[in-house]
Amino acid sequence: MPDPSRSTSVSPTALYTGAVWARHRLSHPAFATAQGRLMLAAAQPAMRLARALGGPTLDGLLLARHRIIDEELHAAIKAGAVSQVIEIAAGLSPRGWRFAKQYGERIRYIEADLPGMAARKRALLARVGCVDGPHHRVADIDAFALDGPASLAGIAATLDPTQGTAIITEGLVNYFPLDAVTGLWTRMAEALRGFPNGLYLSDLHIGGENRKFAVQAFVRLLSAFVRGRVHLHFDAAVDAENTLKSAGFATAALLSPADFADRYRECRDPAAKLVRVIKATTNG
Ligand SMILES: C[S@@+](CC[C@H](N)C(=O)[O-])C[C@H]1O[C@@H](n2cnc3c(N)ncnc32)[C@H](O)[C@@H]1O
Repeated sequence: MPDPSRSTSVSPTALYTGAVWARHRLSHPAFATAQGRLMLAAAQPAMRLARALGGPTLDGLLLARHRIIDEELHAAIKAGAVSQVIEIAAGLSPRGWRFAKQYGERIRYIEADLPGMAARKRALLARVGCVDGPHHRVADIDAFALDGPASLAGIAATLDPTQGTAIITEGLVNYFPLDAVTGLWTRMAEALRGFPNGLYLSDLHIGGENRKFAVQAFVRLLSAFVRGRVHLHFDAAVDAENTLKSAGFATAALLSPADFADRYRECRDPAAKLVRVIKATTNG
């Protein structure tokens, strides 16, 4: 299990992304905290410069991954493959709120995060009129806990074993070392095999696609911000796919934003080339 202080040092990044989603009208304004808006304002000069030089922007990268995960989850729900979702490290992401509003009683959506962040999310959701209920709730989790009610297995045990289930992580795995991530993927595959359909969606940065000088500088900046290394575990997408299969997934593909570029402007941003989206299933 990784050092628990690593997890809490990652939490402030959720305030930043919370402000990004709201700024781009993907979220309720209430999810943009004062601290997040301040961080976003501080990043604007660098972002404007990057945009002017035609370089990658953090917002471009974040929005590209968010759109793709949304699209894949909508598709799985509409196809009837999935009606339950556990979003680990949900932070202040609006996805749970948006999907719960759109699908109502047709889905059960659990937003999960470390207790402090989960409490914050619960309070923000209450402010916009959403209280914990059977179709949308916020749960405490430590993604790296091996057992107990705040482990992935503990939360999965509260769901209906006859319904297809998705697990999402967004903005989590690259902050942790490879052994912690493969342990997490193994526990995810095991939990998802308890349902008729299992789907895992996540962003992932690949080493071989993030080697340019500007990108290295960006990774170092992000590492300083989260007071620890950003880990690029794999040199090539195929290495990540093979590791997911070894962890127990039946299929694993690393989707490229380029394949979504016709639908989303953000997937045409130079930053979109720096991120992939994992789509892994437990039943082919
Ligand atoms: C970069 S933020 C991403 C938030 C959200 N997914 C988004 O994209 O806006 C990282 C999140 O990971 C959460 N986190 C860090 N360590 C965790 C752990 N061990 N278990 C669960 N969540 C964790 C943080 O609290 C934070 O909300």
